[in-house]
Amino acid sequence: MNVFTKQQKPIDKNNSKHRIVSCSGCFSEMEIKEGVVLYNENFFHSECWIEFEKSQGILTEMQNGQKKILIIGLGEIGYTNAEYMTGIGLWVEGYDINDKAIQRALDDNIIKRKAVDFSDYDYYLICISTHKPENMFVPYLDGLYETVYRLLREGKSGALLGIDSTVPQNTTKKILEILNHKMHVVHVPHRYYKHEKTEHGVKQKRVIGACEQCCYDEGRKFYGHLLNIPLHPVSNPDVAELTKIVENSYRFVQIAFSEEMKMLCDNIGVDFEELRNSINTKWNIDMLQAIDGIGGHCLPKDSQMVLDLSKKYISDSILESSKKIDSNYRMHIKSTTGSAKQETALAS
Ligand SMILES: NC(=O)c1ccc[n+]([C@@H]2O[C@H](COP(=O)([O-])OP(=O)(O)OC[C@H]3O[C@@H](n4cnc5c(N)ncnc54)[C@H](O)[C@@H]3O)[C@@H](O)[C@H]2O)c1
Ligand SMILES: [Zn+2]
Ligand SMILES: [Zn+2]
Repeated sequence: MNVFTKQQKPIDKNNSKHRIVSCSGCFSEMEIKEGVVLYNENFFHSECWIEFEKSQGILTEMQNGQKKILIIGLGEIGYTNAEYMTGIGLWVEGYDINDKAIQRALDDNIIKRKAVDFSDYDYYLICISTHKPENMFVPYLDGLYETVYRLLREGKSGALLGIDSTVPQNTTKKILEILNHKMHVVHVPHRYYKHEKTEHGVKQKRVIGACEQCCYDEGRKFYGHLLNIPLHPVSNPDVAELTKIVENSYRFVQIAFSEEMKMLCDNIGVDFEELRNSINTKWNIDMLQAIDGIGGHCLPKDSQMVLDLSKKYISDSILESSKKIDSNYRMHIKSTTGSAKQETALAS
């Protein structure tokens, strides 16, 4: 645990000219000028520094268990969150419908104990799966809403509920309504990428959105000040929800385009990789690889969430075509190579 010590340094005026940085207290942009506080390479407005210093007092309570975190869902995201939070000395307990997931977290000492009920926690983090158990390509929110109703019955009033799971637009608002604002609710979608856990694990730039200012402020203090995660605040939770699913849809379409071009190349006897490398010599192009189909549970499910929404308003969708292309591409590689073992999961 990093022991908090105040080390204010004067700002070097020569280096500060026209430098715009993000304040690590309120996460808005600010110009480096006199009065700005520099601490551990982070800049703060002077008033944000005072608030940040105050929130650090809570760290001791979070270390000795006076204030506790409950992580609900101990799969890939929940496990990684628990590992990170326990690693920085915080008191973390866990819950999962799968006993094996709980046992793994206990065996690895990343949670203190299994939650018996949901009362008496100060921070609840929802990290459960949001796809159908039997079909990872289809969005499914029943488990999430069951958890929310349980929090309504058992959860501590005034606590913070952080939704780290990927959810469709309007979900955070519905959750706050169900809870009748019994606790503050914030959506901070995870951007975890298992192949680059250090750079793209828990502590990477994350988007944060909330319905109410009080919810946003509690979320900002927990994720930003206590967990030390750099945040990008957005004006409402819809933007946060859409950021996650649209960024993955964007990637889905890009990969599907490469898959289409690969099928074309295979038909006309051109080496796609040579073509791709050739195209990528242009300064503004970064064409992705076409490997073995768009896999993982994130890209297919998240792009389906966008498609389900977009279908209500727009008759044709590039996502729908991309899904057909990906499905055709899978058949194409099966017929050309006889296998589709390794899947392309190029995003978190
Ligand atoms: N894995 C990633 O790389 C990644 C990256 C970004 C976002 N996400 C999102 O994070 C969320 C979780 O993903 P994951 O990869 O950790 O999934 P996962 O399948 O690895 O783990 C989900 C866990 O939730 C548990 N669970 C399901 N329903 C539950 C319920 N009602 N109560 C308690 N526990 C329940 C499951 O038993 C499982 O252990 C999803 O919304 C996913 O889209 C995942
Ligand atoms: Zn500030
Ligand atoms: Zn609130």
